[in-house]
Amino acid sequence: MSVLIAPSILSADFAALGDAVAAVERGGADLIHVDVMDGHFVPNITIGPAVVRSLKRRAKVPLDVHLMISDPDRYLDAFAEAGAAMISVHVEVLPHLHRTVHAIKALKKRAGVVLNPSTPVSALEEIAGDVDFVLVMSVNPGFGGQSFIPHSVAKIRAVRALLDRAGNTAASIEVDGGIDLVTVGGVVAAGARILVAGNALFGTPDPEAATRALKAAALAAAPPSPASKGSSVAH
Ligand code: DX5
Ligand code: ZN
Repeated sequence: MSVLIAPSILSADFAALGDAVAAVERGGADLIHVDVMDGHFVPNITIGPAVVRSLKRRAKVPLDVHLMISDPDRYLDAFAEAGAAMISVHVEVLPHLHRTVHAIKALKKRAGVVLNPSTPVSALEEIAGDVDFVLVMSVNPGFGGQSFIPHSVAKIRAVRALLDRAGNTAASIEVDGGIDLVTVGGVVAAGARILVAGNALFGTPDPEAATRALKAAALAAAPPSPASKGSSVAH
C-alpha cells in the first residue's frame, strides 16, 4: 500500500449510488467509504446494511464501512454479511473495545478504531497492537463538507508513533473529514495512508477527474516506498 483514496459516498446522489461508485472507480478509487449514522451517536441518519449489500454488487473495490452508531456490536454481523471489507468503530461508544475489535477480526474483516477530534490519542494505548487501522477524524462526525481541523496533522503523527511503539507497523492510518487538494499534503506527510474524501470529489461536476487529481496529489506527497525503517510493510 502506498496511499489509498476512499471516496465517501455521503456526498453523492443517493438515488444514483451505483453511478457514483463507478465514476470514482474510473478515477482510481481504491476503496469506497460508507458512512453509517444512526441519529444517536451523530445527529444525522444515513445508510444501513441493505444499501451496503447493493453497493457490494456494484463496487469493484472493497467497501470501508465507518460505523457512527451508538451500539456497533449489535450490527457487526449484518455489515460483515452485507459485504464490508473494513469495519471501523468509535472508541467513544465502546467500553469493551478489545472485544469489539476481535469480533470484527473473527468475521475476517479489517478492524479499525476511530477517534473523534476531542478524543486523545492515549485512548488507543491498550489497543494499538490489535488494530488493523486507526481512523483519525479531522472533522466532528455527522456531515460532509466541513472544514478540516488543523490539529489533526499533529494527531496523525502521534497515532503513527503510538502504533510503531506498540510494534504494529503494519497498521495504517486513515483520515476522514475536509480532505482536499489543499489539506492532502499535510496529512500524507504526517503518515495518513488511507484518505477519505466526500465533498472534494462528489461536490464537483466531475468526481472521476477529482478522484484522479486527489490521488495524484496524495502520491506526490508520499515518501517513496518502502515506507519506513527499511521495512517492506507499508503503513
Ligand atoms: C463525516 C464522515 C465523512 C464525510 C467526509 O461524518 O465520516 O466520511 O463524508 O466528507 P468530507 O470529505 O466532505 O469532509
Ligand atoms: Zn466517514
